[in-house]
Amino acid sequence: MSEPTPVIDVCIAGTGSYVPTRILTNAELAVMVDTSDEWIFTRTGIRERRICAEGEFTSHMATHAAERALEQAGLAAEDLELIIIATITPDTPTPATACYVQQRLGATRAVAFDISAACSGFLYAMKISKRLISDGAFNNALIIGAEKLSSITNWEDRSTCVLFGDGAGAAVLRRAQPGEGAIVATEMGTDGTLSHLLAVPGGGTACPITPSNVNDHLHTLNMQGKEVFKIAVNRMKEAAEKVIARAGWLPEDIACVIPHQANRRIIDAIADRLAVPNERVFINLDKYGNTSAAAVAIALDEANRTGAFKRGDHIVLVVFGAGLTWAAAAIRW
Ligand code: ACO
Repeated sequence: MSEPTPVIDVCIAGTGSYVPTRILTNAELAVMVDTSDEWIFTRTGIRERRICAEGEFTSHMATHAAERALEQAGLAAEDLELIIIATITPDTPTPATACYVQQRLGATRAVAFDISAACSGFLYAMKISKRLISDGAFNNALIIGAEKLSSITNWEDRSTCVLFGDGAGAAVLRRAQPGEGAIVATEMGTDGTLSHLLAVPGGGTACPITPSNVNDHLHTLNMQGKEVFKIAVNRMKEAAEKVIARAGWLPEDIACVIPHQANRRIIDAIADRLAVPNERVFINLDKYGNTSAAAVAIALDEANRTGAFKRGDHIVLVVFGAGLTWAAAAIRW
């Protein structure tokens, strides 16, 4: 009888993030559209967001975040084997933004490609790269969530323009040594029948960019917020419960929950349903708004660097986005 194949644990060796310096406050938005700081903060929990400078692209932010993650991981760019960028705002339709980042980092050995799963993309990238490392195909991976949502925001639509911002977050994954942490359980889901609830209708082959389509704002994010809200709460709760159960943990075992940063009310509802106290839920959307694939990655880095958890702690990441898509990960740090 053959011996069972030993499971190779995959750990997060370093995290990094970057946000543009330009801050756009709720008060500034109230001059642009019919809204107020009071409405935005009460309904979403957002105070301000970051906006890219002229000439600053998704790949620039991704590269800065990656450099910080590599530094913390103690890994040289030339030793990187895989780069996956989750984004719905690539620099160009092709090549992938990951190729520009590979070049900027000097990560000449790394295979590099993008994935598109909106706000869920960073955890999709985590699951893909975890499996590729544990299968033995790669020894390490750099995963990045990076978005320049300001480029696909309709700045005349108050129901969406108050929500989004720009930024990037990154993590370096590698084979774990004995005694190190591990990505213990992951979950992903998709419901394409609800794709119409949250979409950028134009810019692809179905609705190419034309002056008239741009006039109609078809190249910007359209969202039926109320419907998305309800589904987000249920799907994120279910995904988080699945990874917590698979990891064999109880709510009281969890040191930190890091949810997608879209709306404070969604986050509070999930914390309630998971029976995790609010003080163990990491929130930074007041500073950055919803940065789609970057949001959970930036939050993971800030939580890591501010000591929200320590080596050996149990943490849960959970996300939701266009597709509709959702995902969760249970991690022993
Ligand atoms: N300022 C003032 N009033 C506003 C604004 C604004 N910025 N936006 C909307 N309103 C008004 C509406 O016109 C409406 O007025 P009415 O009652 O006279 O018609 C009223 O406020 C209520 O609007 P709702 O859309 O019902 O507000 P709601 O409480 O649902 O909040 C929000 C809207 C914040 C968008 C919420 O629904 C939400 O967060 N949804 C989920 C977002 C999400 O999780 N997205 C997934 C990830 S995003 C991605 O994948 C890229």
